[in-house]
Amino acid sequence: MKLLAIETSCDETAAAVVEDGRTVLSSVIASQVEEHILYGGVVPEIASRRHVEAICGVVRAAMQGASCDFKDLDGIAVTHAPGLIGALLVGVNYAKGLSYGLGLPLIPVHHLRSHIAANYICHKSLEPPFLSLVVSGGHSHIIEVKDYTEFKVIGRTRDDAAGEVMDKVARSLGIPYPGGLNLDKASQGGSDAAYKFPRPRVDGRPYDFSFSGLKTAALNLINSAGQRGEEIETADFGASFINAVVNCLTENTEQAAKDLGYKKIVLAGGVSANSRLRSRFVDVCKKNDWALFMPEISLCGDNAAMVGAQGYYEFLKNNFADLSLNACASSQIEG
Ligand code: KG4
Ligand code: ZN
Repeated sequence: MKLLAIETSCDETAAAVVEDGRTVLSSVIASQVEEHILYGGVVPEIASRRHVEAICGVVRAAMQGASCDFKDLDGIAVTHAPGLIGALLVGVNYAKGLSYGLGLPLIPVHHLRSHIAANYICHKSLEPPFLSLVVSGGHSHIIEVKDYTEFKVIGRTRDDAAGEVMDKVARSLGIPYPGGLNLDKASQGGSDAAYKFPRPRVDGRPYDFSFSGLKTAALNLINSAGQRGEEIETADFGASFINAVVNCLTENTEQAAKDLGYKKIVLAGGVSANSRLRSRFVDVCKKNDWALFMPEISLCGDNAAMVGAQGYYEFLKNNFADLSLNACASSQIEG
C-alpha cells in the first residue's frame, strides 16, 4: 500500500511516498531554517507563507522521486495536530484537496505518533508494545506504546519542553538557531560537570519533568557571569547543561521502564538527535539488558516519511477523516 504523506507542522515543508509503513520510496524536505535564523527562532506567520509557496513543488518532487503517479496511491496522510496552527492548515488543506480530487482516503496523523513511527522505518522488526521517550521542541513525554495506534502518556513536562530549553539557553549563549542542534555541536568535548545545575523533580509524579527551573538557573548563570565580566566556557557550559537535561530524561525513563516492566526503549523527536542523550541511553539500556531503538539522525527531526509510516497503521485501523478535518494546535496523542 502506497501513501503520499504531507508534513507542515512547524518550519519544514515535507512530502514522502511510503510503502506499507516501512519502506520510504521518496522523502523531500524544504527547510525554512535559513530564513528563521534571522529572527533567532520560528516566526509562525513566515512559516505559513513559506509552506504555501513550497508545498506544490515538494509534493511534485516526492511523487517524481518515488516514480509514482497519483493513480498508484492508496491514500493521503497528513499531520493535522499538534503544531503551529497556520502551518498545519497549509498541509491539511492541501491534503484535503488532493484526497477530494483523487477520490483517495484522507488519513489524519498526530505529530508525536509519527515521530515514534520514524523508528519503524529504521528498525524493520520493531513492533509495539514498548516504552517511548518523545522529546521535541514542544513536548517531553514518556509514553507507553501499547499498539501502533494505542498510547498512554505516563510522564510529561509540567512546563517547558526539553528542546525549548535547549533552544533558549543556546540563544542566551549567542549560539544561532537552530539552538538545540548547535548547542550539541558547541558542547562536544566540554565537561559535563564544569557547571552545577539543579536536578528538578515533580512531587508525587516520578515520571514527569520540569525544565523551567533548569533553564532559569542557566540563564541566571549566564547573566551574572556577564555582569561580572566573566567569560562563559561555551563547550563546558553547554555540556553541563545538556547533561542536566539528559539526566532528567534518562532517569525518569529508566524508572518508568523498571516499574512497568518494559525491556524495549524507543527514542523519538528532534531532541533524540542529541549526541549525549543517545550515548546515555546506550549505556542505560546496556546496563539493564534492554533493547534500544533510535531513529537515524535524518529521521529525528520533522519529515513526512514518518507521517507515511504512522499513516499506514492508522489506515489499517480505518482511522480516516472526511473533508471537515481541521488542524489543531494542541492535541493529546491518545486521541
Ligand atoms: O521534533 P522537532 O524537529 O520539531 C518539533 O516537533 O518540535 O524538534 C525540534 C527540537 C528543537 O528544539 C531543536 O533544538 C531540537 O529538537 N534539536 C536538538 C538537536 N537537534 C534538534 N536538541 C538537542 N540536540 C540536538 N542535536
Ligand atoms: Zn516534530
